[in-house]
Amino acid sequence: MKDENTSQKRGNTTNIWGGRFDSSTEKATQEINISIAIDQKLYQEDINGSIAYAEELQESGVLSEKQLDNIKNGLEKIRIEIGSGKFQFKEKLEDIHMNIEARLTELIGDDGERLHIGRSRNDQVATDMRLWMRKASLELQKQIILMQKTLLLKAEQHVDWIMPGFTHLQCAQPITFAHHCLAYYEMLDRDLERLKDAEKRCEQSPLGAGALAGSPLPIDRKRLAKRLGFKDAMQNSIDAVSARDFIIEFIANIAILATHLSRLAEDIILWASTPFGFVKLSHKTSTGSSLMPQKQNPDGAELVRAKAARIYGNLITILCVMKALPLAYAKDMQEDKAVMFDSFEQILLAIKALDATLEGLMPNREKMRAALDTGFPEATDLADWFVQKHQMTFRHAHEITGKIVKRAEQCACSKLKELPINEAKKISPLVTQEALEGLTVEKSLERRNALGASAPQKVAQQIEKLKQKQKHRQNGKAE
Ligand code: ARG
Repeated sequence: MKDENTSQKRGNTTNIWGGRFDSSTEKATQEINISIAIDQKLYQEDINGSIAYAEELQESGVLSEKQLDNIKNGLEKIRIEIGSGKFQFKEKLEDIHMNIEARLTELIGDDGERLHIGRSRNDQVATDMRLWMRKASLELQKQIILMQKTLLLKAEQHVDWIMPGFTHLQCAQPITFAHHCLAYYEMLDRDLERLKDAEKRCEQSPLGAGALAGSPLPIDRKRLAKRLGFKDAMQNSIDAVSARDFIIEFIANIAILATHLSRLAEDIILWASTPFGFVKLSHKTSTGSSLMPQKQNPDGAELVRAKAARIYGNLITILCVMKALPLAYAKDMQEDKAVMFDSFEQILLAIKALDATLEGLMPNREKMRAALDTGFPEATDLADWFVQKHQMTFRHAHEITGKIVKRAEQCACSKLKELPINEAKKISPLVTQEALEGLTVEKSLERRNALGASAPQKVAQQIEKLKQKQKHRQNGKAE
């Protein structure tokens, strides 16, 4: 007997599960279930997933070719409707999956209702999320590479621009602006690696796992996975619908990246502060005060610093949602979307804003150099001199040098070489005028010539190496 139209059969009930229910859903219960405002972002992935699933159903004999054609045409129409903003999203249909399915049925009739056989929103959403995440990850990776290019360019332009390097935010040893930039380059490189590495754990498709127990249909899940660009199908249907570690990992990786960006933001904020004056911000990437006319504020960098907090919040949210959740699917998991989308959108904005801030940054050579005239950053070199010249132990040399620094401070000298030699000799008769005079921050910098050190020559070599690496990347070659 031919099936009559199911939407007619549904009568008064509005929900697709209405058959078993005596009443419609209470207002707040309905409201708490609505996710369409958030998950409509998945529409491309949802349509792609449905097309692949329909093709698989046809290939395995569940759908006819005509039915498949109808479904595909309908889905492509919906893609255009959503893309052009004409689609009418309905809250009563809860989420993106049911909105698309309902519209499909409206457009092509009963064939639209055949698509969901053997499939559940559970494997559907798990598939959509993986597809979305892979796309987002690639976009983020591109932005990281762009920021690395800016860092490299800044390094190249300031190879021998000497500045104080800090530990505990105390003037420690001389470094260069270039060396400092390359430190961030390295962090971003690891962030990139982490995102790429996480892709490996997202190469298997959950589609075809059904609600949790697997599909009763003769479908080929591996073939279905490959249609969607996955390498394989997930091996366990329960895991397939309930795993969200790929989202946790994605947000965790974003959180680490946010930490790195917030550190650079903080450095820029400090450098641009009035007492430091190491850099000037471009007018394009700073803001003014509504009251104090002289102000130029690093708001962009400050917000990047704060975005990290928001992203950590998202990470904690998803960890807590998943913690102790019994297998397999539970509606709690619907909350995964807001945090995944938000983390991605916020980090993308943060990295773009910080990249622009960095690009417009104008370091002030004189101010950076002048900051080395206080704080005795050349002291370690005097200790090294005692060790090398007099075979002293470093600890002993450290102590003597410490006393010389104290004496210099007492004599109101800002540099060790300004200390009268007779004063220095009172502390150690071994010290010579020549040794003190040799203590310049430029020499100190030159001496640090080992792998990874801040000597301009070494940093220049490193820049060359990294530029080659960038070229390789552009040509799409493996590193
Ligand atoms: N909107 C739902 C989510 O994102 C789709 C899955 C619903 N599954 C269910 N069994 N109610 O989690």
